[in-house]
Amino acid sequence: MRLAQLVPWGTALASLAVSPTAAAPNADTSVYHDAETGFTFTQYFGKYSLNNAGITYRVAVPSGVAANTNFDVVVQVVAPNEVGWAGLAWGGGMTQNPLAAVWGTSSGGIISSRWADGHYLPRTYAGSTYQIFKTGTKHNGTHWQVTAKCSGCTSYTYGSSGSVNRLSPTGSNRLAFAYSATKPSNPSSSTSDFSEHSVIGFWNHDFGSAANPTFTTLVAKNLGTR
Ligand SMILES: *[C@@H]1O[C@H](CO)[C@@H](O)[C@H](O)[C@H]1NC(C)=O
Repeated sequence: MRLAQLVPWGTALASLAVSPTAAAPNADTSVYHDAETGFTFTQYFGKYSLNNAGITYRVAVPSGVAANTNFDVVVQVVAPNEVGWAGLAWGGGMTQNPLAAVWGTSSGGIISSRWADGHYLPRTYAGSTYQIFKTGTKHNGTHWQVTAKCSGCTSYTYGSSGSVNRLSPTGSNRLAFAYSATKPSNPSSSTSDFSEHSVIGFWNHDFGSAANPTFTTLVAKNLGTR
């Protein structure tokens, strides 16, 4: 089913008003310590319905990252089971920045690295890579949750001029999310097609309050087998 690649994705989409729970100036995020994985995250609750249902996006950062360097992050997405796929845009918009499409599966979850040059189904993108954690990736009767390390999500080259954009490891970064109720056409594959989102939202995510001094140790611990 290649229809999704032929039909342009709309640019004027529903966007619900946000209710910030600020933990830092100019940020819409709060601090969350995840006892299961040991990471300190900052989190944003992206509402996709007027019933206040939403997707939680969490980010953890290594401590002591120098300015203007590339750095890894850990991302954790928690969504109600009715969410077919959840999108995350590291540069705060659909085009010209690393995208993640995330969904739960019966055996865990998938994060697919994507890139869009226009408002079409995003292509796969090798510039960022995700390693899914055994710990912190799970589902139950109401939610699915995926936790992964990303390399290449916080620095990217865009545009015809080859400009480089880097997210701030200590400040707030403008991110965006997308929601779709429809599951990808081949949910066991990270290269699956998926249909257009029905809701999008934007927020300022505080990375500075998500610094983890034992980041590398925690990554190794959570990647391993349970
Ligand atoms: C189900 O999983 C979600 C996501 O991990 C979690 O937040 C929630 O507390 C869980 N519910 C129960 C009843 O354990």
